[in-house]
Amino acid sequence: MQRIIAGGTGFIGRYLIKRWLDQGIRIAVISRSRERVHKQFGDTVKALSWADVDSLKHDKLNDTEVIINLTGANIGDKRWSNKRKQEILTSRLQATETLSQLCAALGDHSPPLFNASAVGTYGLQKTQPDSLPPALDETTPIDFTEWNDFVSEVGRQWEQATDYAKAHGVRVINLRFGVVLGPNGGALKKLELPFKCCIGGPIASGQQPFPWIHLDDIARAIEFLLTHKDIVGPVNFVAPQAINQKQFATALGQALHRPCHLPTPAFMLKLGFGQMAEELLLHGQHVVPSLLTQQGFQFQYPTINAALADIYPG
Ligand SMILES: NC(=O)c1ccc[n+]([C@@H]2O[C@H](COP(=O)([O-])OP(=O)(O)OC[C@H]3O[C@@H](n4cnc5c(N)ncnc54)[C@H](OP(=O)(O)O)[C@@H]3O)[C@@H](O)[C@H]2O)c1
Repeated sequence: MQRIIAGGTGFIGRYLIKRWLDQGIRIAVISRSRERVHKQFGDTVKALSWADVDSLKHDKLNDTEVIINLTGANIGDKRWSNKRKQEILTSRLQATETLSQLCAALGDHSPPLFNASAVGTYGLQKTQPDSLPPALDETTPIDFTEWNDFVSEVGRQWEQATDYAKAHGVRVINLRFGVVLGPNGGALKKLELPFKCCIGGPIASGQQPFPWIHLDDIARAIEFLLTHKDIVGPVNFVAPQAINQKQFATALGQALHRPCHLPTPAFMLKLGFGQMAEELLLHGQHVVPSLLTQQGFQFQYPTINAALADIYPG
């Protein structure tokens, strides 16, 4: 059995691939650059380009357990110019449409498609003083006409791009990731920097929800979904402990043994990062993992303190 991972050269993919290679699972990685795949993984994985995907239709993929699509231009790397926003959107749509068409063409032979998405799909919630806004789970109807933020628009189109595979009977899971916390990369790499310089603190009021999940629980939850084949559609990938940004900052300061005193003013972030700050830093969503917990999934890192203690031991 093999698992195919598109965008496997990124932060989440690298972690999954190392874990699964250690378990003796065969991996194929779809990338814009086969050289990048070889550089990262040597010959431990099979490297495929996007141009190779069409030919997979003839392979039937009977020995493929799942196709996991993690592809997308990083949403937090650069200021959102119109050009960057287009790149963020089209990189996700092109990859998802290509894989959706592959799975649809394979029909009954198709492995399930686990396609990345994000909790941003739910839209931004109004920050409330001293309490989190109402919880959002997989049953919460999303009124896409109500929101006009960029991130939920991306989420909407990204998930819709899997509809073609769904319509052809393919089992599709939309992995609605919260902020993924793990060693050596991802959002933490940026968030830890001010703390390491002893100028850390909450972002603005710190009251905005901070949905998060440990990288290890992503891998474990994907494995759980591979064995629980009746689950389809969107699944929230967030830890059960819902916190706000101030609670996250306090926990991060403690884990790094650094002070957490200096709030970053909202106006500075808006000045520096514009709409990106508004949507990724100054607002959030209170998302809960109802489906995973109802189905009996046990989180290895249910609390932020446990997650950060693992990532920053000692
Ligand atoms: N990390 C998080 O906290 C988080 C939270 C919510 C949602 N997500 C979503 O989960 C997925 C995986 O996250 P990640 O953190 O592992 O992502 P990542 O490291 O930023 O990127 C994943 C891969 O996407 C491909 N890629 C990058 N820029 C691209 C572009 N302009 N056009 C086409 N492909 C491009 C790259 O693969 P190649 O260069 O090999 O083609 C890259 O390795 C992403 O879609 C992300 O939006 C992540």
